[in-house]
Amino acid sequence: MEKEAITAYIEENKQRFLDELFDLLRIPSVSADEKFTGDVLKTAGVVKSRLLEAGCDKAELVETPGHPVVYGEKIIDPGLPTVVVYGHYDVQPADPYELWDSPPFEPVIKDEKIYARGACDDKGQMYMHVKALQTMVETGSLPCNVKFMIEGEEEVGSSHLAAFVRQNKERLQGDVILISDTSMISNDHPSICVGLRGLSYVEVEVTGPNRDLHSGVYGGAVANPINVLSKMISSLVDDKGRITIPGFYDKVAEVPVEERAAMNSAPFNLQAYKDDLGIDEVMGEEGYTTLERTGIRPALDVNGIWGGYTGEGAKTVLPAKAHAKISMRLVPNQNNEEITRLFTSYFTSIAPAGVKVKVTPHHGGQPAVTKTNSLAYKAASQAFAEAWGKEPIPTRDGGSIPIVALFKEVLETDVVLLGFGLDSDAIHSPNEHYGVFNYFKGIETITLFYKHFVSLKS
Ligand code: BES
Ligand code: MN
Ligand code: MN
Repeated sequence: MEKEAITAYIEENKQRFLDELFDLLRIPSVSADEKFTGDVLKTAGVVKSRLLEAGCDKAELVETPGHPVVYGEKIIDPGLPTVVVYGHYDVQPADPYELWDSPPFEPVIKDEKIYARGACDDKGQMYMHVKALQTMVETGSLPCNVKFMIEGEEEVGSSHLAAFVRQNKERLQGDVILISDTSMISNDHPSICVGLRGLSYVEVEVTGPNRDLHSGVYGGAVANPINVLSKMISSLVDDKGRITIPGFYDKVAEVPVEERAAMNSAPFNLQAYKDDLGIDEVMGEEGYTTLERTGIRPALDVNGIWGGYTGEGAKTVLPAKAHAKISMRLVPNQNNEEITRLFTSYFTSIAPAGVKVKVTPHHGGQPAVTKTNSLAYKAASQAFAEAWGKEPIPTRDGGSIPIVALFKEVLETDVVLLGFGLDSDAIHSPNEHYGVFNYFKGIETITLFYKHFVSLKS
């Protein structure tokens, strides 16, 4: 009965649920770029109002030295369990704009998908929780208390959220932290993410001569920082796909063979994966499958590299400096600060005479795994089975949500990563999108999570 009321409510309100998400997607809440600070704040304000409209008793913007955290709650009975929802309302920059088929902040639906920056990561997924709350309130089926913590700095490393969590330990007490900010295998094979990689992110600068030089007058006689940097970078990963930094793998947790077998039995289609990316072959560490390479093995990638002349035509120049931004994705039990230190000393040590190297660390985060034997995981599994008609498979995602490890450490609450995105949703890329089906099915699955969680708890 209750279930029909819920699906009927979602069905009747589909257009409004989409319109409201579109309003959020229209505000360019790019946390990385100061130019958008006003828009980030505006988005926080809208999220707060929507939480109140959805049925929260209170909602507020909590100031931080950066962008505010939106906190909201609905406490129906302190004796009942409490679900704490985490999500983020900030988005990645939309650049390069010219590669979008429609403007990133003018959402449109095409082929049953919502196209906009943040459609999947994470406004679309975060807003499903707001609409799930409203659905439960309006149909009289909210079975427990709810708290929302929606931050505006996830895409820049959640640097102020850690302090917020520590200072609000009491207020954030609950029985589970529910997050929709990850992927599933496919709409035919629902899955629950049980692992996230950590991140160490550094910027490097190689300096050669004291000024840009004529590449004919000096070429071949003076170290060229770009040549040097390329060589240094290419030496960081060997022919077997192993990272060469001494000590890098010392703490990497080896995953038991049974777990690897289970992971590889997932219905992952390598051909579809390659087709989606337009590549004819995958690559990576020898001895591991694609799912293992992103799920349980670390990786080192250059995210950007620049220097010298890149304008039109040819300028003959031997540049004074070269730069690169490098990310290292980490797995349990690597520590991001330790890895940054190992990188820094090794990278500095391999610099040849004739150049100077500077390494600047950026934000990072610890890897995290979530339990598959908790009540919360069981409830998530039952919710998927009921809504999608299939048992979800546990998977490990390659992306990072830095605050998850801190939630475990400070709040000691189980985390469930109930993500509804697909790897092909192009998050962080041009033409990011999110399935209309996933949006509505996600709302339904979330309401079922509450039902199963509360009944398992009692
Ligand atoms: N939602 C993503 C992380 C993600 C994506 C996890 C897909 C699992 C599957 C999140 O918004 C993100 O992009 N995180 C950043 C880390 C941050 C420090 C910039 C990342 O992974 O690069
Ligand atoms: Mn995200
Ligand atoms: Mn992201």
